[in-house]
Amino acid sequence: MEIIKTPQEMQHWARNNRPASRRGFVPTMGALHQGHETLIQHSRQNNDQTVLSIFVNPTQFNVASDYEKYPRNDTRDLAIAEHHGVDVVYMPSADEMYPENFRSFVEPGIASDPMEGAGRPGHFRGVTTVVTKLFHAVSPDIAYFGKKDYQQLAVIRQMVTELNFPITIEGVETVRDEDGLALSSRNARLSPSARADAPIIFQALSDVRELFDAGTRQCDVLLEAFKKSLSRSSLISLEYATISDARSLVEITQIDDDAVLCVAAWYDDVRLIDNIELHPH
Ligand code: PAJ
Repeated sequence: MEIIKTPQEMQHWARNNRPASRRGFVPTMGALHQGHETLIQHSRQNNDQTVLSIFVNPTQFNVASDYEKYPRNDTRDLAIAEHHGVDVVYMPSADEMYPENFRSFVEPGIASDPMEGAGRPGHFRGVTTVVTKLFHAVSPDIAYFGKKDYQQLAVIRQMVTELNFPITIEGVETVRDEDGLALSSRNARLSPSARADAPIIFQALSDVRELFDAGTRQCDVLLEAFKKSLSRSSLISLEYATISDARSLVEITQIDDDAVLCVAAWYDDVRLIDNIELHPH
């Protein structure tokens, strides 16, 4: 397994090591868990080369202390990458990625407007910019993103379509703990009582799925049911629950096409997100 640390060296490797068929790419910020590992496995199974990037991207953190506090564990991450047969780990430094006077950003499309985009100004602009830089360094044929961060996946899809990137974007199902809680590096920050309570998010989403499967298509009815289920917990506080078109993320009132219910909620100072897709056909 090779470890590459600068954009120039990554581009050089990418040009000189063209795979017979396809190169898969998994961008991450490290602190790897089973969710990330599943993305790597998808890439390994479907491509003859896999590049993993580990880069905690300062431009997507709208609160500086979150960037400082973000968990970093390169030794463990590299062992996981090696174990899964990754060909190259690309781990540039922040100074290499953002030299002094850096000011060229990629403006995200309309999918970035609501939800996370409204609550975290500049977040998606940081994501589209860094993903563009990573794509230019790695030149993948196909890149893997988790549905856990549904809006991020939609924003990346929109960027790739609108800016004609020659890259296929593959969305991978959310990996959950046995009790249903979506895996996230933030789960480690939950208090024991919050951790025990947190599966209620997936239970409430599953209650909505049941109503939807029974034929309910009206969003206010589905959201009301979601909030009622969530209100069984006295610890959680809901930030938003929204049903939107699955591609554009424009909010809808009735489900006629593929839709997604996205939720953000808090336990003390820990913010969790989750979602379920609702396919009417
Ligand atoms: P990070 O949070 O490290 O996540 C890397 C990838 O893992 C993302 O595509 C994310 O959706 C996916 N992922 C995280 N938890 C998951 C889970 N439980 N199940 C399935 N996939 C999961 O997302 C980022 O990094 C950054 O914004 C990045 C795209 C790397 C740009 O900096």
